[in-house]
Amino acid sequence: MSDTQSHTVADIAVADLNLAQARGELARLAQVLARANAAYHTQDAPDLSDADYDTLKQRNAAIEARFPALKRPDSPSEQIGAAPAEGFGKVTHRVAMLSLGNAFSDEDVVDFDAGVRKFLGAPGTLSYTAEPKIDGLSLSLRYENGALVTAATRGDGAVGEDVTANARMVADIPQTLTDAPEIIEVRGEVYMSHADFAALNARQAETSDKQFANPRNAAAGSLRQLDATITRARPLRFFAYAWGDLSAPLADTQMGAIRRLADLGFVTNALTTLCDGPDDMIAHYRQIETQRATLGYDIDGVVYKVNDLGLQRRLGFRSTTPRWAVAHKFPAELAWTRLDSIDIQVGRTGALSPVARLKPVTVGGVVVSNATLHNEDYIKGRGSKGEEIRGGKDIRVGDWVQVYRAGDVIPKIADVDLSKRPAGAQPYVFPQVCPQCGSEAIREEGDAVRRCTGGLICPAQAVEKLKHFVSRGAFDIEGLGAKQVEQFYTDGWVREPADIFTLRERFGNGLQQLKNREGWGDKSAANLFDAIDARREIPLHRLIFGLGIRHVGEQVSKLLATHFGTWEAFETALTQADIGAGAAWDDLMNIDGVGAVLAQSVITTLQQAAERASIDRLVAQLDVQAAARPTSDSPVAGKTVVFTGSLEKMTRAEAKARAESLGAKVAGSVSAKTDLLVAGPGAGSKAKKAAELGIETLDEDGWLTLIGDA
Ligand code: IVH
Repeated sequence: MSDTQSHTVADIAVADLNLAQARGELARLAQVLARANAAYHTQDAPDLSDADYDTLKQRNAAIEARFPALKRPDSPSEQIGAAPAEGFGKVTHRVAMLSLGNAFSDEDVVDFDAGVRKFLGAPGTLSYTAEPKIDGLSLSLRYENGALVTAATRGDGAVGEDVTANARMVADIPQTLTDAPEIIEVRGEVYMSHADFAALNARQAETSDKQFANPRNAAAGSLRQLDATITRARPLRFFAYAWGDLSAPLADTQMGAIRRLADLGFVTNALTTLCDGPDDMIAHYRQIETQRATLGYDIDGVVYKVNDLGLQRRLGFRSTTPRWAVAHKFPAELAWTRLDSIDIQVGRTGALSPVARLKPVTVGGVVVSNATLHNEDYIKGRGSKGEEIRGGKDIRVGDWVQVYRAGDVIPKIADVDLSKRPAGAQPYVFPQVCPQCGSEAIREEGDAVRRCTGGLICPAQAVEKLKHFVSRGAFDIEGLGAKQVEQFYTDGWVREPADIFTLRERFGNGLQQLKNREGWGDKSAANLFDAIDARREIPLHRLIFGLGIRHVGEQVSKLLATHFGTWEAFETALTQADIGAGAAWDDLMNIDGVGAVLAQSVITTLQQAAERASIDRLVAQLDVQAAARPTSDSPVAGKTVVFTGSLEKMTRAEAKARAESLGAKVAGSVSAKTDLLVAGPGAGSKAKKAAELGIETLDEDGWLTLIGDA
């Protein structure tokens, strides 16, 4: 084939296209971009890089500008970002679907067991189940009166997607149950076997359909099909290993419950074993590890669960993980490749993050072309405490590096091959100024990260803040994603979150300016303004998360919102708080899950003048909804409780966790705000102070009776 013949229409410059070619190109681009939107949205397999997506969108707009008559009814320029999550209904889980904490070494397993026994005050050996951790996606199946009524994905743990029609296509999932509790939610993992995965990809290749990177992506893509007949053609399987809502208990032990699930007709994993203590658990882990390659499906570790369900209940949960279980992960997969360059990204808190751009390499079924380099010390071969890592070897551009992936985390670099270091490779010089705004970038004492000092003037920080603000756990404004806020920022229309809410006021009536832009039409502009207005009313935790304060993630935002209740209470307390001391500080430190670093970060942000002014401008645009108090009907919900003296039936940690799970607030010291003191033997000054203040005091048994645990 000659050079000219190998060129396709896609390579012809817009200015050189004839009418027929332009029509063809518009049709092709509409299809490619719609597919990219869908792929991006489902996240199962984004098929275009952001840069490629933008290039195609610009080409489409340029062709439309040259041939306005050819503009298609389904023109990609009329579509704002990704399609909304339509198609699947939402299911609110009655019992949250949590994830698991991880253990990466034998030592971590010993620590896990020690932590459990400490919490329970149990000196002896505990028994645990050990079972493979299936690498698929979790699913919750609700049966009422023996009939499958809903199947939902995990989603964010609180709300998942309704995939009932699809789940009905999975042979391992019973449609009906006999002799089951009236209400039972069975949870487990949907996965695809190695053989079925290979056959599916072979079929996909024959029909020129996309290839799945690994069985997990294939399973996810197959389950999350709007057309359930496609799911039927994809051989999915299901292992049951847990449960949610139940009208009657399944058994007294984890092992018993798994047997009961098997009796009900579910497939449970045959490698599930009972272990006595950590040595036994680790031995079983090794055993499963040796079988890993021949199992015929992907697993990424072993899950240990406290066998006694009574103890599981006492252990309860941290914010997103149970205290009674842990996932012991297998070591990550590794691959060698060349480091082509090092880029510096500036995050929303100003952190300068070095990113390795790699010659693409497949690691555990996924193509990796970037890896995090964490910070400048890491590049130099030093860990967070100044200790040597990788034997002190630094990382240079041109080096051969060993890349690994553990689970879904961003790929990392494990090692450098000095024997392959190119002659003349220079140590990497970390920038001392922000590559985005030129401000000085400094490292504070004790901080591993160098940060841009530009604050609100740094465009990178501002844009990242805005992207975070519109992200899923924050304001999640339909039609306003990362791409759109970036565009608005570049145009100078939106500089800070508050500006989003004055867009209509500033551009409203004549939607002209917005609608003439590439990517926007009459309808999409009007929809956007409506979507923005719909978010003026916002739950407190979403607002707190949306502010993008360092260390304040979604879970912490929820904790803070529940603790303070209203924006006014939150804002007043933090404005008054002193770092490290005082009533407001103590109150913050008393929240389970809030530590000094986090508290300091929140206080600093709310007391920094420019930041604060920007936050106030935002809040003035909003109607912030108060956080619901824990909807517990327990007699201690909403009460402030203090424990003092020694407890005999439970540890202090357990008492605190249990009280909090019943909606009580546990404080460390007695004050006028205390509602109840629980005093064990040896109680001293706190009991005295409570007596002086006339605060109700109970002993441990009185407390257990009050909360119904006696
Ligand atoms: S138990 C409350 N058991 O791992 C804990 N999870 O990293 C309920 N997973 O979201 C989970 N195999 O999707 C459990 N044998 C197993 C598992 C398992 C795979 C998944 C599950 C969960 C994730 C947590």
